[in-house]
Amino acid sequence: MRATAVAQPNIALIKYWGKRDVARNLPAVGSLSITLRDLTTSMQVELDRDATCDGLTVNGVEDSAMLPRLSQCLDRVIGPERAHARIESQCNFPVAAGLASSASAFAAATVAAAAAAGKEYDQSMLASLAGHASGSAARSLYGGFVELANTDAGIEVRTLRPAADWPLVVVIAITETGPKAVGSTEAMEISRKTSPFYSSWVAQQDADLDIARAAVELRDFDKLADVAEHNCLKMHSIMWASRPPLVYWNAATMRCMETVRELRHAGCGVFFTIDAGPQVKAVCQPEDAARVEAALTATTGVKDVMTSGLGDGARLVAER
Ligand code: PMV
Repeated sequence: MRATAVAQPNIALIKYWGKRDVARNLPAVGSLSITLRDLTTSMQVELDRDATCDGLTVNGVEDSAMLPRLSQCLDRVIGPERAHARIESQCNFPVAAGLASSASAFAAATVAAAAAAGKEYDQSMLASLAGHASGSAARSLYGGFVELANTDAGIEVRTLRPAADWPLVVVIAITETGPKAVGSTEAMEISRKTSPFYSSWVAQQDADLDIARAAVELRDFDKLADVAEHNCLKMHSIMWASRPPLVYWNAATMRCMETVRELRHAGCGVFFTIDAGPQVKAVCQPEDAARVEAALTATTGVKDVMTSGLGDGARLVAER
């Protein structure tokens, strides 16, 4: 009745932005991501027939904000007649600040809840269940370079290349530690309904995915860098042109992009990507990681820098 799972966030290089089915939380576009290794969320789910409500602690502190979404996630994984759950989450990085903490949280919660309830789902079912809670969480079920594709019925997620095959490094420049102003679910709907660029974004996504998939297959860093930066800036253009505008960047976000551009011009294997938050994720070749880390640390406005290799998908670590 108790199980613990660990998952890491993933960083999309070809982004998911917009839903084709809000009720089932299905994405409008496919996406391609890398799963991190060193930023972790550990979730323990304990089912207790005597408990009168669900409870959640994050790093030992009661948290009511995320509880409703986690309760709904457990309802879908276990069934609505389930026992109440005590959920304990341990996270070694800032939550709700554009570091994909919901991806690792829902991936770990899905795996832990299924095990605690004795459900024997396969990997693709677990990914669909996690994706129903948070679209990007489906990708954290898998390790390395991951593609999420749309199918008629739902989604299909697979590893294109395991982490050890192409050990890139991600340096995350944290420019703000507070929670973001507008959550991704609400923001995606604003973009879908109001952005004049939304339909071309959806129409062009498969072409970007084809280029990125080929780059991963060939381990062609420059090709991946070009398409990932293009796709990221295209997503943010949709956000900026939404009404009301969705601008997640701050001045330090821009400075970090400039730092990455300068490094790249100086011959460093590095490119940036930015999600629905002000942090800049610099993806680099392992031999350039120290230089990238030093340059981002020295960039004005950067509060902290976290570095991670690429890692595996969500997994069960304890069961009783
Ligand atoms: O899964 P969500 O609702 O947290 O949305 C993720 C959206 C982005 O991080 C901006 C892009 C992505 O593909 O991860």
